[in-house]
Amino acid sequence: MFDLSGRTALVTGAGQNAGAGIARALAAQGAAVAVNDLVPERAEAVSKEITSAGGRAVPVVFDVTDLEAVREGVGQARTEFGRHLDILVHNAGIPADFGQGPFRTLAPDRWRAPVEINLFGAMNCVSAVAGDMCEAGWGRIVQISSGAARTGSAAGISLYGAAKSGVEGFIRHLSQEFAPFGVTANSLALGLQSNVAGDSTEEFARRIPTRRLGTPEDVGAAVVYLASPEASWMTGQTLNLNGGSVTS
Ligand SMILES: NC(=O)c1ccc[n+]([C@@H]2O[C@H](COP(=O)([O-])OP(=O)(O)OC[C@H]3O[C@@H](n4cnc5c(N)ncnc54)[C@H](O)[C@@H]3O)[C@@H](O)[C@H]2O)c1
Repeated sequence: MFDLSGRTALVTGAGQNAGAGIARALAAQGAAVAVNDLVPERAEAVSKEITSAGGRAVPVVFDVTDLEAVREGVGQARTEFGRHLDILVHNAGIPADFGQGPFRTLAPDRWRAPVEINLFGAMNCVSAVAGDMCEAGWGRIVQISSGAARTGSAAGISLYGAAKSGVEGFIRHLSQEFAPFGVTANSLALGLQSNVAGDSTEEFARRIPTRRLGTPEDVGAAVVYLASPEASWMTGQTLNLNGGSVTS
């Protein structure tokens, strides 16, 4: 079950934390993984870790907001693996300027970054891989989202929430267009991950029913399922992965 041997994957923003966990988990199931990040050292380190553990990986350094760069990176992965990409996981979603703060305090020049990386990043990546997937009759698109897409909060993350809501909508529509071609498209909405809490880890964990924050391993395991052959009837959905902190 969940065997990804012979498949190839691109994971964006995979140089650390959740993205690195996704890349490691896909590689452990047999996929050859193109490890993308904006920061070359991060992509190289994760790629090296995977190959040292006996897996297949290659670093592909590009900015997901730059369509030409995405196309080049996808071309590079295709050449390295000698095969088109079967699996896309668009995980990069936190820009250098997160645009955090009460909306009325945020200058207009800070509105675009969260939308660029999440929504245009997804459009750029999907447009670079979906043609091959549809032609091959098999593909998996997994969008990493957040509880912030559907639950309002006063934490000053309205721009981020708007971007994540937008990309979830994009994925739902793609699922309908791509289903006849054997290509699924789903979102995985994460709750708070262990990398962001710092000194407040215990306090945040107390508010979560499972009493802990999410880990890269939690995220990797869920993505493996969505990317697997066994998940061929799962499409157009948003799966919550949050330790029970939000239920629906
Ligand atoms: N951390 C959380 O608590 C949390 C909660 C809910 C959802 N999420 C989502 O999970 C995903 C991963 O979050 P994380 O905390 O692991 O992120 P992170 O910021 O720790 O790591 C993401 C990586 O993406 C890279 N990156 C940034 N901009 C990029 C770009 N334009 N092109 C390519 N790479 C780029 C960064 O260099 C970094 O290595 C994001 O989509 C985020 O929105 C995170």
